[in-house]
Amino acid sequence: MSACCCGNKHAKEDPKQMALREAIARYQGVAGALIPLLQEAQEIFGYLPGEVMEEIARGLGLPFSKVFGVATFYAQFHLKPRGRNVIRVCTGTACHVRGASPLLESIRQALGLKDEGTTEDLRYTLETVACLGACGLAPAMMVNEDTHGRLTPAKALEVLKQYQ
Ligand code: FES
Repeated sequence: MSACCCGNKHAKEDPKQMALREAIARYQGVAGALIPLLQEAQEIFGYLPGEVMEEIARGLGLPFSKVFGVATFYAQFHLKPRGRNVIRVCTGTACHVRGASPLLESIRQALGLKDEGTTEDLRYTLETVACLGACGLAPAMMVNEDTHGRLTPAKALEVLKQYQ
């Protein structure tokens, strides 16, 4: 508990909640606010929890279904927690013929994932993409903003160790 300017003691507010409330206040009454506000909220929380979308709906005076619909329509929004490191393994044609499948399988196994998704410790999120634009380096993957190419399963696992 901490003293407030009103002299009362309130529970200390979560800084993320405060940032969300501040962002909502900034966008109230602004046309076309929903997408930029969802982007800001995702930056704050790393993803869009249901309660956050509810608060945004209340703040902008929109039905929850509208907010949820937009959040699920655009691939840029994530409704589940994301890992600190996002791995994108290319499964495009050039990478496929050069061994993307065994590469992907060894990463999945090492991370204990059945499919794409996020590890329990939130260290990694694994995704596949159709092409990274680095076909000359096939098979390739990106980790966050870094491109890694000419990978073997063993090399890929070595690379991943560098990302905490
Ligand atoms: S097909 Fe993999 S980078 Fe283009």
